[in-house]
Amino acid sequence: MRLEYKAVSDLIIEKISELKKKNNAVILAHNYQRGEIQDVADFVGDSLGLSQQAAKTDADLIVFCGVHFMAETAALLSPDKTVIMPDEHAGCPMASMITARELKEKKKLYPNAKVVCYVNTTAAVKAESDICCTSSNAVKIVSSLPEDAEIIFVPDKSLGAYVSSCLGREMIYWEGYCPTHHRILAEQIVKMKSDHPEAEVVVHPECTPDVIALADHVASTTGILNYVQSSNSREFVIGTEIGILHRMKKENPDKTFMPVTPLSDCPNMKLNTLEKLLWSLEDFQFVVTVPEDIAVEARKAIQRMLDLS
Ligand code: 13P
Ligand code: SF4
Repeated sequence: MRLEYKAVSDLIIEKISELKKKNNAVILAHNYQRGEIQDVADFVGDSLGLSQQAAKTDADLIVFCGVHFMAETAALLSPDKTVIMPDEHAGCPMASMITARELKEKKKLYPNAKVVCYVNTTAAVKAESDICCTSSNAVKIVSSLPEDAEIIFVPDKSLGAYVSSCLGREMIYWEGYCPTHHRILAEQIVKMKSDHPEAEVVVHPECTPDVIALADHVASTTGILNYVQSSNSREFVIGTEIGILHRMKKENPDKTFMPVTPLSDCPNMKLNTLEKLLWSLEDFQFVVTVPEDIAVEARKAIQRMLDLS
């Protein structure tokens, strides 16, 4: 009898698919996840797309491969489902740059201001906000507010500055930022443009304003993926987290993609691995929940955004 050997990763993938069926689970993965996780996921997308999927799924169990605020948003939108994440320590440093208490203090300084929170925030911060936004709809959400309204925009000062530049509208910013996107430097883009004059530069709005000023196109992660697919250009300089290159190369084998820097690698997103995904399905961990009093308020801010999207 001949013994057939399978790669360990194939065995893990088989087991994941078996447990997924058995538990009526859906795997949602962000565009920055490791390639092997994106490949086993039922849906891969940006923050907005993932929250829309979480809201409409009929699965009993949502396995969220992303960072904590994303799983929390899924838990808020699907209160009757169990949401688990493979690594409980996968947080977003930007989301940790503001607390609900700090936001309450800021609101006291501007009692008439509306608060727009980026989805990269805790549920407790969302509960203190009027409306939520993601990178794909931030301009639309801010422009939906009355023209004379004062706006506190938290926590990403780069996304806030980008929205302001699109709308010609000042806001009150928070000193938050994404450490991964701030590793992308304008001088690196200038050099790449001179080395690859035919290439288009596409960046995420979490980049600094000097980087954004050099870009041909600015969009959310899914917006970037859609843009490179529909563009007639053959070469692209990519200014966002490098996990996005997996899907980009897979969907466009005849195009060339160059990250501005290999340092734009989010260590938190990469905490999730195929093994941890399997263990999470085996042990139903790590469950993400939001206390009901916070959930009721946070859901309102997210729902207002979804209604406008
Ligand atoms: P997107 O909503 O564009 O996917 O961005 C999420 C994120 O965390 C970017 O750093
Ligand atoms: Fe947070 Fe930046 Fe990582 Fe996105 S890339 S999860 S904003 S640290």
